[in-house]
Amino acid sequence: MRILITAGPTREFIDPVRFISNRSTGKMGYAIAEAAIAAGHEVILVSGPVSLEPPAGLFKFVSIVSALDLLEAVQRELPDTEALVMTAAVADFRPKQQAHQKLHKKATDGRDAMPTCLELTPNPDILKTIRPLKENRIFVGFAAETNDVISSATDKLVQKGLDLLVANDVTKPGAGFGTDTNLVTLLEPNQAPVSLPLQSKRSIGDEIVRFLERKHPIV
Ligand code: CTP
Repeated sequence: MRILITAGPTREFIDPVRFISNRSTGKMGYAIAEAAIAAGHEVILVSGPVSLEPPAGLFKFVSIVSALDLLEAVQRELPDTEALVMTAAVADFRPKQQAHQKLHKKATDGRDAMPTCLELTPNPDILKTIRPLKENRIFVGFAAETNDVISSATDKLVQKGLDLLVANDVTKPGAGFGTDTNLVTLLEPNQAPVSLPLQSKRSIGDEIVRFLERKHPIV
């Protein structure tokens, strides 16, 4: 199977030196990529800026920065794949204006000042945008939550038309950003949620790969 995996954060630049981003380190997505390669699949990894080395044996590595870059990469790579796993932590908003020169504290001739209030504009929802391209592909999403985990994740499963949503409460010890372990609940349409015990991100990756293999007729 050829699997498209997105990982890491996106960066939304205010000026050449400042950006809005989030705490994603890419570990979960990279662990799924490793698990898929180990199981003999072809993996296209689309990654935001992280400090991890791309796993050995990737079919293709694509580096992106912003949510708009990520959307473009997913639209380009998806047609040749059978499954999409969206672990990327996409910034939902970007600054409405992106300055081409560094913004200083005070405006001077020919230089703008950093505004005290940033005007933001929504980024596209990538999963919703590409939903018409799903056809018989398997789509897996992730949701990092801090409260009402199951109800919020169930909404995302339905709204985004996913086959599987992997939810985690990032406030729990051993779960979430930067850790090597995770505590997740798997949600499939019309099925009771399945909570997995605390385990390494790599073994959660193996679990997700087994899900893809079960769903996909040709391995
Ligand atoms: N996602 C996406 N496009 C976005 C935001 C998120 O495709 N603009 C994907 C993520 O990669 C993830 C899933 O949607 O697989 C859920 O992401 P999350 O950030 O939890 O959901 P949001 O839709 O952004 O909802 P909210 O921020 O309101 O919780």
